[in-house]
Amino acid sequence: MAASSERLRHAWGVHAVHVVSLEPGVVELRLVGFDVLRKVKMPRRTGSDLLTVPVALREDATAFVRDYRAVPHQLVLGATLSGKSMFLRNLLTGLATQPVALVGIDCKRGVELSPFASRLSALATDPDEAANLLPVLVKEMEDRYDLIKARQGIALSTPDEVITSDVWGLPEGERPHPIVVFVDEVAELFLVATKKDEERRDEMVTQLNRLAQLGRAAGIYLEVCGQRFGAELGKGATMLRAQLTGRVCHRVNDEASAKMALGDIAPEAVGVASTIAAEVPGLAVAGDTSGGWIRIRTPYLSLADAAATCRETAELLPDVPALEPFRSHVPPPPVTLSVTLAKPRPANG
Ligand SMILES: Nc1ncnc2c1ncn2[C@@H]1O[C@H](COP(=O)(O)OP(=O)(O)OP(=O)(O)O)[C@@H](O)[C@H]1O
Ligand SMILES: [Mg+2]
Repeated sequence: MAASSERLRHAWGVHAVHVVSLEPGVVELRLVGFDVLRKVKMPRRTGSDLLTVPVALREDATAFVRDYRAVPHQLVLGATLSGKSMFLRNLLTGLATQPVALVGIDCKRGVELSPFASRLSALATDPDEAANLLPVLVKEMEDRYDLIKARQGIALSTPDEVITSDVWGLPEGERPHPIVVFVDEVAELFLVATKKDEERRDEMVTQLNRLAQLGRAAGIYLEVCGQRFGAELGKGATMLRAQLTGRVCHRVNDEASAKMALGDIAPEAVGVASTIAAEVPGLAVAGDTSGGWIRIRTPYLSLADAAATCRETAELLPDVPALEPFRSHVPPPPVTLSVTLAKPRPANG
């Protein structure tokens, strides 16, 4: 069926025919009449579960849902101005309405994430702050493992790696809040100028790797954004990439970058990602570990609207005491002054 979808498309005179195999012997044909990604309109929401966010539209006109419990960590790649931060913005506002702690690491001086500070449990805006924040997150993860061990009657000496249960097995009153860590521009964390910074970098990479390896069971998830993510970022980078199961690749400038995002999970999607035009920011190829891939595009969401959502949902900020020192000071919303402007008069009049 999939092989003949191109012929069906012409026979029926539609924009696209998508074939989904539902169960052995049953396939679903989705006919799409026009390019739904040109002007994104999200399908009406059908209820929302904890840690799932319909973040973009798929080319078959269904919602692309970011489900943290199915795919704990994700890599969002793309050239500059390709729409990565827009993707994060949509995701963050989707999570803002849920009882989830949001952590931002934005080493571009916080330009992307500080507008959302009112809803963030922690924010680091440069590598120094990130170097302080990451060990606290690792410690929080270890504490959660200890909690699981205590609750399940597992000896405290058992290494974290062999524990199979997770925070979801804890009774609701004791379960710590899930934490989603957003890293915008990961290269800023990885690239170092001096020898002295190198040590700190290696520590941060190790901490990120530990969070990626063990975070899921502790309810800690990573959303990592970058322009490139290859071995050139240094020791530990490819290891971290291998832990990031979900892959979203926006427009890239060269095939090598697309390979970094999709090469190891959906090789045939690499070519597709390389052909995304600059005129359609937000368009991306999303792959999954089953080897499937699909084109998606985020809806446009202005920074002001996203920031407003974060302010409105600020009271949902979950209590995570360890992160308290990293809450950034939130300036009060701007006061609009009514200024009467004098009528301009020509200088020589
Ligand atoms: N889905 C979308 N629909 C319409 N416009 C979009 C969409 N996604 C992004 N844009 C626009 O494209 C521009 C670049 O987006 P964005 O800032 O998300 O890119 P980026 O990949 O984060 O870039 P950088 O690497 O420079 O941070 C912005 O002006 C944004 O408004
Ligand atoms: Mg950006």
